Formats: sequence, C-alpha cells, structure tokens
Amino acid sequence: MMGQHAIVMGGGMGIGEAIARKLHADGWTVTVVDRVAAQASNVANDLGENAFFECADITRADQLADLATSMRERVGGEGLRAVVNSVGVFDYRLPVLKTDLANFNRMLNVNVTGAFLFTQAMEPLLVQDASVVHISSVNGEMAGPTLGAYKVSKAALNMLVRVLASELARDPRRIRVNAVAPGWVDTPGERKVQAALGTPESLSDPKAMKFIPMARLTKASEIANAVAFLCSAGASGITGQIVPVDCGITNAEV
Ligand SMILES: NC(=O)c1ccc[n+]([C@@H]2O[C@H](COP(=O)([O-])OP(=O)(O)OC[C@H]3O[C@@H](n4cnc5c(N)ncnc54)[C@H](O)[C@@H]3O)[C@@H](O)[C@H]2O)c1
Repeated sequence: MMGQHAIVMGGGMGIGEAIARKLHADGWTVTVVDRVAAQASNVANDLGENAFFECADITRADQLADLATSMRERVGGEGLRAVVNSVGVFDYRLPVLKTDLANFNRMLNVNVTGAFLFTQAMEPLLVQDASVVHISSVNGEMAGPTLGAYKVSKAALNMLVRVLASELARDPRRIRVNAVAPGWVDTPGERKVQAALGTPESLSDPKAMKFIPMARLTKASEIANAVAFLCSAGASGITGQIVPVDCGITNAEV
C-alpha cells in the first residue's frame, strides 16, 4: 500500500467525490465512504489502486463504530493522516420560522451531529500531525431570509470545528482541524434542489450569478484543492480556520 491514509465521508458524489479524486491524485491512499454504497464503490473502483470504499451513514453511531473497526484493520499501525467530511443536507430552503421541527432536526442531525460523531469515531485512529477538514458553507457566516435551518447548522458546524481544533491542538499528536466554506457549486445535490425549486436553469444563468463578484459558480475541484492544501504539510500552522472558497461571495457588497 502506498501513501498516507485519508478517509473521505460523503465521497461518493459532488464535492466529496472531487476531494477523493484530488487526494488520490496527490498520492494518498483513499477510503471513500458514503451512505449510498454504489456511489462510494463507483468512485473507488474508478480510482483503482490505493482506493477503497465503505458504506456508512454519518448520523449512525453504530455504523461509524463498524467503520472505525474496518479502518483500523486497513490502516494498521500507519493510522489515518487525513479525515474529510463532505456530507451535508441543503434541500430545505424555507425561512427558519416556517421550518417544521422534523426538518430543523434533520439539518442539525446530519450537518452538525453527524460531523461530531464522525470525528469522534475517527479520532483514535489519527496519527501525529493529522488533519481533519469539514465542508461547511458560506451560509455558516451569512444570515438571510431563506435557508434558515441550513445556515444555523453550518454556523454550528463552524464552531464545532473551532472547538475540535482547540482541543486537538493541545493533544500530543498536534492534530489540526479546519473547514472549507464553499460558495455556490454545481453538484448532483444542488441540481436536484434547483430542479425541485423549478429553477434548473439558474446554475447556468448569468443573471443568477449577480451576487457573486467573479460572476461564476465555484468548481468542486477548487474546493478539493483547498482541502488538499489543508491536509498537506504546507498547512502545518493552520488550525481552527473556516476557509471560504467562494469566488468572492463573502467579500461582496450587498
Ligand atoms: N453544492 C453547493 O453549492 C454547496 C455550497 C456550499 C456548501 N456545500 C456543502 O458541501 C457539501 C457537499 O455538498 P454537495 O453539493 O457535494 O452534495 P451532494 O448531495 O451532491 O453529495 C453529497 C454526498 O453525501 C452523501 N450523503 C448524504 N447524506 C449522507 C449521510 N447521512 N451519510 C453519509 N453520506 C451521506 C450523498 O450520498 C452524496 O454522495 C455539503 O456539506 C454541503 O452543505 C455545498
């Protein structure tokens, strides 16, 4: 087996898939994990050598315990050097006061509790100088009248990242924890949401890009590049940061 070990949760599609592909191209041995086994296996099989897949739901502590067991067998004494979580739900876009309890809880359960459970399950496997990266969103920093529960969940994820970074910086292994906060990215999940909203054309409509200074979507590969950097020795002094990769959205005058 070659390279250091990385695990990418939610790596079967979208931004997570781009991250798995980038880390593998950079020489990492990558385990792709997804709730949908076929998606994880498609990506891992396509990557070929030094790529593996597992099936797990990030909200299920029992499945994450099994995942930790499988990973321990796979990585052995080499341990895990990079843990990445790209799972997130963003398919519910009503104002927070119009949000029913089930959807509010679902956003928090997947986007926050899942991130907590996954990090907790993988932490014993992490080695010296390891890196943990969660995928957040510009919505974790920007308030607004839509996407209410999602914004709340990503803001909570940002603080989870900072608290984890604070705890693990003091660990003798000096583990770093950061987030990348994407702008608007064309992914299968985002296409599904736009189709459900009746606005499938918005992902290619220049008028819909007006709020983005660079007037274009961010590419999944651009998110993956930032994640790969945060997992690299080049980022050895960076921890507890939420790094926007958003074509200027969070720098915009409104
Ligand atoms: N697409 C965007 O515009 C955008 C913008 C900002 C932030 N984000 C964030 O980026 C991340 C990835 O988004 P995406 O657009 O690639 O999504 P996507 O829906 O295209 O892909 C998500 C992947 O995660 C998997 N997944 C979903 N729930 C899971 C669970 N409970 N357990 C395990 N796997 C699960 C899915 O099967 C899928 O493979 C999310 O956290 C999202 O909030 C996306």
